[in-house]
Amino acid sequence: MPLKNINPTRTESWKKLQLHFEQIKDVTMKSLFQKDNTRKEKFTLSFDEFTLNYSKNRITEKTLSHLLNLASETELQDAIEKYFNGDKINETENRAVLHTALRNQNNNEIKVDGFDVMPEIKQTLLKIKSFSEAVISGSFKGYSNKKITDIVNIGIGGSDLGPKMVVESLQFYKNHLNTHFVSNIDGDHVSEILKNLNPETTLFIIVSKTFTTQETLTNAETIKKWFLKSATKNDIKHNFVAVSTNLSKVKEFGVAEENIFTMWNWVGGRYSLWSAVGLSISLAIGFKNFNDFLKGAFEMDNHFRKTPFEKNIPVVLALLSIWYNNFFNSESEVVIPYTQYLEKLAPFLQQLSMESNGKSVDRNGNKINYQTGNIIWGNTGTNVQHAFMQLVHQGTKLIPVDFIGFKQSLYGNEDHHKKLMANFYAQAEALYAGKTEEEVHLDMKFKGDTNKINQLLPFKVFEGNKPSNTILIKKLSPKNLGALIAIYEHKTFVQGVIWNINSFDQFGVELGKELANKMISTIS
Ligand code: F6P
Repeated sequence: MPLKNINPTRTESWKKLQLHFEQIKDVTMKSLFQKDNTRKEKFTLSFDEFTLNYSKNRITEKTLSHLLNLASETELQDAIEKYFNGDKINETENRAVLHTALRNQNNNEIKVDGFDVMPEIKQTLLKIKSFSEAVISGSFKGYSNKKITDIVNIGIGGSDLGPKMVVESLQFYKNHLNTHFVSNIDGDHVSEILKNLNPETTLFIIVSKTFTTQETLTNAETIKKWFLKSATKNDIKHNFVAVSTNLSKVKEFGVAEENIFTMWNWVGGRYSLWSAVGLSISLAIGFKNFNDFLKGAFEMDNHFRKTPFEKNIPVVLALLSIWYNNFFNSESEVVIPYTQYLEKLAPFLQQLSMESNGKSVDRNGNKINYQTGNIIWGNTGTNVQHAFMQLVHQGTKLIPVDFIGFKQSLYGNEDHHKKLMANFYAQAEALYAGKTEEEVHLDMKFKGDTNKINQLLPFKVFEGNKPSNTILIKKLSPKNLGALIAIYEHKTFVQGVIWNINSFDQFGVELGKELANKMISTIS
């Protein structure tokens, strides 16, 4: 069954939110904290090793209650069940949306067109396991019978961003294999990667759901030519594997049948890292860690599916995001992890959220007259404090922030970690509290800068009242990373349901592709 078509702006709760917004838009969070000393506990949620503190948002219990009613009026629970059950909720492509099945660790059936997809998923997982173990142990060898030392993932978009982000984020858990990613059609990208590689000891994974993507096929052909300078066509089966739904095209390329990992059209590219698209992850950190990563996502799936909305982390994050996007008209959201490992989280989330929810027609195909997809951006703390945070603190735009921090560092350097976490908390506090004229005045006086007060005072004032969520996680483990990604996947889903759009197609990427193909002949 498709999702229901409910225009959110016609619901009672939307109208109430509009009225409520007028009452609350100038209220300061400081005054809300002063009135209620239980606010922090009230607006804190926990899940396993995660704590979400969303008390530093411009909301009251009333706001939350209207937002929760909006979720009910747009029939979110019904949508969640259809999402997990394999209903064809991607209507424009007539497809189910079942990335959650890829990490399902229950023994239940999940049917698409009457067929249980779980046996095939389990089979593919076994294949990922045995293949990863063979490559890591060295029993799988390249064409000249040498052990594999390097892995190159050739893919773009969802066939690149997810695996690349996870491999980099979990490098602490990495084995001896060197992992590289080629995505851009820029020939310099592939050349830079190939220049240090030995064809005898490199395994190439061509990842393309469709196996028609210009960038991936061009890079794969270039790499094949380079490989064939030292090897024969017959050797391709030793050093090339592929992940795709398009088996005939993969075979045409020359990949041996036993080296093909299947995926399914009910997995969207940007949601596919849980499938064999994540083969490079399993190779880099071993299957056990890959399985823990799946487990973390599975546990978050259960939380999302079964927890009442007011205690449901992805639902609350999505509702807050809608509150700012549709009522405060804030256009973007910034995600700042306080760990260098998550440097590639923002580009991954950009595809996840913006390719999913960057839509301007609703599920009926009608033009929408309200805002949808947010602009997502970010980078790691503390680096961003010396870069774009100026704009978030003192610029003219309201930009809600997600701060992501970890209680423990992986190498246990306490001195660094204390300083890192002090910055993590300080940023949220500074955005929330700001610094008033009186405070600046006093501060300057105290520092002996009295003569500069008249000149500098306005520049040193921080308005404050800038919203942020803090997501505090025990430690960056494969399991917790899986859960974190699943939070953002489900947040994206909830937003799409409420905005009444199809989050699972991406026709917006097609026109540029078509024009580029036409323009090739005009470029001299
Ligand atoms: O250009 C958009 C897109 O279709 C993404 O959604 C997808 O992740 C990417 O291209 C790569 O597609 P494929 O895996 O089919 O090569």
